[in-house]
Amino acid sequence: MIQVFAHRGASGNHPENSLSAISAALDVDVDGIELDVQSCHDDYAIIHDTWLDRTTNGRGMVRDATREMLNALDAGNGEGIPTLQNVFDLIGTKATINLELKHTYSLDKFVQYIENNINAGVIERSQLILSSFDHHQLVWLKQKLPWVKIGALTASIPLNYAEFAQKLHAYSIHMDKNFINHEFVLDAKQRGLQVYAYTVDKQRDIELVLDMGVDGIFSNYPCHAKMAINRFCD
Ligand code: G3P
Ligand code: MG
Repeated sequence: MIQVFAHRGASGNHPENSLSAISAALDVDVDGIELDVQSCHDDYAIIHDTWLDRTTNGRGMVRDATREMLNALDAGNGEGIPTLQNVFDLIGTKATINLELKHTYSLDKFVQYIENNINAGVIERSQLILSSFDHHQLVWLKQKLPWVKIGALTASIPLNYAEFAQKLHAYSIHMDKNFINHEFVLDAKQRGLQVYAYTVDKQRDIELVLDMGVDGIFSNYPCHAKMAINRFCD
């Protein structure tokens, strides 16, 4: 089964990384939801950029704003920026949650946050994938949470192909669709890694990466992606 992840939620038709984008993704029974996590002054915020300018009516850096300030902004359709807790509460155990760490600091607090939610039964261990382009973060997280699935993000093909992900004890590699190739996917699969391609929206791109043997895709239009995959697999 090819996994479909809603990229920043169903962000093609809803504000990216918003609660409505997550709800829309859940409505179409996605396998997983990918969300970007940034540290703010007193919490973890779900937003892609370091700066507020592109996706909200606010200005300045996410890390300087409090959760209350972020929630009061308009991040599209009048919605505020959600916290990580808002996201856990909304998704619950309904789908895989792929948290992509951006400028996410105080990782000990982040780990505690996750453990508290698991202990409270809000989410389950098995549904979490933590990913980052910062592989140092991933090494640290895997040491603290040995059970967690690590998603090794890359936009390049390293000299040693997928070996870097194996060294990270990763579960999956999340690879830019523009750089993915057959050799890379084959090597990753032989190492027991799942290969997911981002960000894949058009039918022809979906067919291209499926043909290369990927196990899943990140799409801004998860509903269309599911239909395209069904057509390809028929
Ligand atoms: O996690 C896959 C993808 O989201 C990585 O790139 O810039 O969209 O966060 P970006
Ligand atoms: Mg992302």
